[in-house]
Amino acid sequence: MTRTIGIIGSGLAGGAIARLAVDAGYRVVLSNSRGPETISALTRELGPLARAGTVDEAIAAGDIVALPLPLAGLEALPAGTLAGKVVIDQTNYYPEFWRNTELDSGELTSSELVQRHLKDSIVVKALHNLDWNHMYSNARPKGDPERTTMPIAGDDAAAKETVTRFLETVGYDVVDAGSLAESWRIEPNTPIYFWPYAPAIPEGLTGDEEKSYYLKQPVPPVTPEDARKMIDSAERLSPPGGTLAAMPPAHVAIFMDLASGNTVQK
Ligand SMILES: NC(=O)c1ccc[n+]([C@@H]2O[C@H](COP(=O)([O-])OP(=O)(O)OC[C@H]3O[C@@H](n4cnc5c(N)ncnc54)[C@H](OP(=O)(O)O)[C@@H]3O)[C@@H](O)[C@H]2O)c1
Repeated sequence: MTRTIGIIGSGLAGGAIARLAVDAGYRVVLSNSRGPETISALTRELGPLARAGTVDEAIAAGDIVALPLPLAGLEALPAGTLAGKVVIDQTNYYPEFWRNTELDSGELTSSELVQRHLKDSIVVKALHNLDWNHMYSNARPKGDPERTTMPIAGDDAAAKETVTRFLETVGYDVVDAGSLAESWRIEPNTPIYFWPYAPAIPEGLTGDEEKSYYLKQPVPPVTPEDARKMIDSAERLSPPGGTLAAMPPAHVAIFMDLASGNTVQK
């Protein structure tokens, strides 16, 4: 039974999965590359179910270990310590930030690359395809008509079941997009990536109004049928990988604000 989520990465996506997990009653152990003392503000905000630890401590504590870190950090992960763990791969390939020839050539999907490095872990791709704000704010309890659907991919049925239970508990319906080799169907710049989970911005807003609308406006749910259609209609990109230019502009503007150290008001 899943009780604790170990989280490697305590930035935007790490904070979002931690909030989801804590709200649903899971314990979380958050880690990053700089050390637990740099995560204390976030763990204070998350409350008593959250603590900060080293990467090894997060792995040891986690019944599931989530990877909300840049793909560039993959090689530094301790594959041996992660052996046997169910791992949620939240990473995405953005060649403008980090390049890999095997990904560029389409030999591997990014989650296959993660699985190859973490060869004794059981990787499930999930919670990678929407921004940190909507990752948290779109979650709804089971039975809520606004509950939305998320895709997962992986090679191990039991691990997919474990991650599905987790996602269902924190607030999402789940559709299986297939194996890690097939996970290109849910990678960046495919129909199920980012846009269906974010609001359509009306014409005529100023830049600041757009950002505020993007963060606050409720988003219509993706039904399991919608999700299936998007997954099935995906075409394999060549070359693969996401680009900031193909993302919702308000998301990119907010991301840039945060990257320059500005706070973002909802
Ligand atoms: N941002 C989103 O909305 C979003 C949504 C879905 C998925 N994702 C994916 O999630 C990943 C992280 O994105 P983000 O926006 O959350 O990035 P971020 O805010 O920059 O946070 C990245 C985190 O990863 C940690 N990290 C990097 N390398 C590490 C390593 N080797 N060991 C331990 N921790 C390491 C960083 O720690 P230090 O700061 O200590 O270096 C930081 O806490 C990316 O792959 C992205 O595609 C992002």
